Amino acid sequence: MTSKDIRDKYIKFFVDKGHKEIAPAKLVPENDSSTLFTSSGMQPLVAYLLGENHPAGKRLVDSQPSFRAEDIEEVGDNRHTTFFEMLGNWSLGDYFKKDQLPWFWEFLTQELGLPKEQLYVSIFEGNDSVPKDMESYEIWKSLGVAEDHIYAYGVEKNWWSRSGPPSKMPAGEIGGPDSEVFYKFTQIGHDLQYGDKCHPNCNCGKFLEIGNSVFIQYQKQADGSLKELPNKNVDFGGGLERLTAVILNEPDIFRIDLFSEIISTVEEHTGKRYTEVQSQSPMQVIADHIKAAVFLIINDVRPSNKLQGYILRRLLRRSALKIHQLGGGLTPLPGIRAIAESVLIIYDGLLGIDRGRQRGIVGEVVTNEINKFGDSLDRGLKHVEKIKTIDGKITFDLYQTFGFPYEVTEELFRQKGQQINKEQFKTEFEKHRELSRTASSGMFKGGLADHSEIVTKYHTATHLLHQALRDVLGPQVFQKGSNITSERLRFDFSYDQKMTDEEIKKTEDIINQRIKEDLKVDKKIVAPEAAKKMNAIGLFDEKYGTEVSIYGVGPNYVLDSQAKDQRERAGYYSLEFCGGPHVEHTGVIGKINRGTILQGKIKITKEEAISAGIRRIRAQIVLK
Ligand code: ALA
Repeated sequence: MTSKDIRDKYIKFFVDKGHKEIAPAKLVPENDSSTLFTSSGMQPLVAYLLGENHPAGKRLVDSQPSFRAEDIEEVGDNRHTTFFEMLGNWSLGDYFKKDQLPWFWEFLTQELGLPKEQLYVSIFEGNDSVPKDMESYEIWKSLGVAEDHIYAYGVEKNWWSRSGPPSKMPAGEIGGPDSEVFYKFTQIGHDLQYGDKCHPNCNCGKFLEIGNSVFIQYQKQADGSLKELPNKNVDFGGGLERLTAVILNEPDIFRIDLFSEIISTVEEHTGKRYTEVQSQSPMQVIADHIKAAVFLIINDVRPSNKLQGYILRRLLRRSALKIHQLGGGLTPLPGIRAIAESVLIIYDGLLGIDRGRQRGIVGEVVTNEINKFGDSLDRGLKHVEKIKTIDGKITFDLYQTFGFPYEVTEELFRQKGQQINKEQFKTEFEKHRELSRTASSGMFKGGLADHSEIVTKYHTATHLLHQALRDVLGPQVFQKGSNITSERLRFDFSYDQKMTDEEIKKTEDIINQRIKEDLKVDKKIVAPEAAKKMNAIGLFDEKYGTEVSIYGVGPNYVLDSQAKDQRERAGYYSLEFCGGPHVEHTGVIGKINRGTILQGKIKITKEEAISAGIRRIRAQIVLK
């Protein structure tokens, strides 16, 4: 029996019981801003479960492609995937437990021919507000389910709503107790690391949940209580991939027809065999993620840093990294393209997949994204190797500079034995967002985006640049504008020719020499007249108060006889009217903190004219 046979049988079985087959909803819901993806069959039906009349009637059936972003971290075992097909049947205030449980049992044992001895069920054990589900218990017993095959669990396992147990349900959310069916793989022994005794909800992999009948009976109220709905509904969901595995008595869903072609393509492009990879998880992750990515792409999602686009980006980039780590070469692109193609082959004609029409766009989106990431993947990994301790700054840097989604970095360091903290990343992220906001909405005084450490470094570097330009080009150079962000400095100055490469190099060398000399930076508050006498550079025609603040870099500095600007500035290398802030010693400008301190230098990245007689320089602190 193939997955297609099971899907067809299921739909037919319920159609024969008076259900209408409905078209599945889109994977990315339309007109529902409360959620990014359709993650269960009931999601598009909430209004009807609340009592609205459905045009197709009170009994519905479908197979709903579903995506659970929250399960990304679960992928990598024998049974979890982010993308799956949920077989679903619903009673909208029509039949209830007495029909639902026997029908599903009949489907499993007669239509699919599963052995009763290997089937186990669970019921809700009750809590303060909802009693134990004895009705389901009795129904299961009447169907011939042995007592020791019936387990009762609390809200964590046998209550279903989109938000989890009652305590997590927001006001208005619907849900109720549920009853699940599990298949036991007798060939698998219990793994004691999951507890002394195995049971249907044990995580050792011996039991596999294959279907869940939710009795949607309640709605959470604003006061925290649960109110009975006017209709008692059934919301059933069963995993098609899992049912297919169970029919084959195969504990690993990645070996069924909806995955086998994908896995063999992963094998081909990594040179590793599925059975050989010690932990199969990287292959399972790749297979799941690329399949999910293809479905998102055909649902018009495009990689970005927001919402659905970010999830797609994470899926593709995480896959690229895993292929790379499995030996798939520096460029994981051919592998990813081939795997995506295998997904189109498997699903051609199903779930909205039309291989002929979609292979172009799928290939294009995947290629663009992986090319974008591919350039920095190797550099990023090398960068990671050098780092000893990881902090929020580094995770942000990997995100910003190398395009590593936070979660991918987190996983990399888990592999390295390091725990990292999302809060630190978020703090950096927010700081950066704040900076960008400030940068676009106007600057702090003095052309500074803020007073952070990096902006302060660039500020002192700007003073060094100003003086160095005067040394190299002459005293006609004068500051005309300055703008500093955490990424770079930008400096406008009076000069009427394009700088030569040699002049640029000389300027950089002077600044880097002053950084290397680790010069002290002094602040002085003096009368404007005194500042002028000291030859401090400044806007002398401006109106100053009785006191001004000046910053001097490098007291007792011996002037270079080669310099074109030979003015003595009270013994400082650079002396300017300025409100600060500045670093205390120039040496720190060249120190880049990446967990370990790396040596950096100032590099002029651009020199251009911005108007007649005014030139603009952009410079950055880069690794030496
Ligand atoms: N809506 C239920 C689930 O997703 C059936 O498990």
